[in-house]
Amino acid sequence: MKELSKTYGKIILIGEHSVVYGMPAIAIPFNGVELNVYISENDKNFISCKFFEGELENSSEELRGITELVNSFLNKYQISRKIKIIIDSTIPNERGMGSSAAASFGVSKALFEYFEIDASIDEIIEIANVSEKIIHGNPSGVDLGVVSSNSSIYFIKGKEFEYFPINIDAYLIIADTGIKGKTKEAVSDVKDILDREEANYDKINMLGKLANNAKNYIQIGEINKLGETMYLAHQLLKELTVSNEKLDNLVEISMKHGALGAKLTGGGRGGCMIALSDTKEKALKIKEELSKLSANTWMTYLKK
Ligand code: PMV
Repeated sequence: MKELSKTYGKIILIGEHSVVYGMPAIAIPFNGVELNVYISENDKNFISCKFFEGELENSSEELRGITELVNSFLNKYQISRKIKIIIDSTIPNERGMGSSAAASFGVSKALFEYFEIDASIDEIIEIANVSEKIIHGNPSGVDLGVVSSNSSIYFIKGKEFEYFPINIDAYLIIADTGIKGKTKEAVSDVKDILDREEANYDKINMLGKLANNAKNYIQIGEINKLGETMYLAHQLLKELTVSNEKLDNLVEISMKHGALGAKLTGGGRGGCMIALSDTKEKALKIKEELSKLSANTWMTYLKK
């Protein structure tokens, strides 16, 4: 069966949560994990993936977003032909690595390809958003921005994203806590914290400032400052209650072994963290130490 779309994971370098409130974020694609979608003719609408295999109309709660997406596509284009969709993914679920955006965009793109309907990226994103809204509640759009472009981006909600090449002599280590992230819950709790105490908006504004500083440090290759900025962002995210003990522990272990900076990435309360290193040797050491306590680790060089 021909693969109709291939999408990759993503990492938010800086700006998660504050991006929901109009602050900038920087996110990069992560090609170490991927998601492929295959579609073929079938006698019933059928879906097969990690969570579920069976008729689309009986799909599980985890697949509600994708099910609604497929139904909304078929209704919009008045298609009555039946299909089988296979989603084959190595992106860990609910770990802040963009698995839902990759699945939403990947399935949407594959549907347009399979039915040979010409569509712009915006039209593919519009269909993908049906699922993202169900999964995330109030998504900023940063995940779909990276996944749809497969490029690093500087993103502000509601604006056209900027392609933002990251070309720095540094290594990024990624560790999966093995705990499911709780993006929807964390986003809603941050809202409660802000509603309760107006002064907490200072933390959001500060996170926005840090994201802009990070952009500048990336442009001038100041990796030490970039690391410090990442670590400061982690402290603010912690104050906003979206970290947890395991994430904090992995961040501190990275710092102890020479990371320039480290922070949680994505929605938090589980999921993944990232650490920045200036040398390969140190990066390998950090990765080794993190792997003792995490479900999985990856490393990527940020110079293209
Ligand atoms: O948990 P993830 O990788 O889907 O990232 C969520 C990022 C947030 O800023 C927390 C929410 C959003 O919609 O941008």
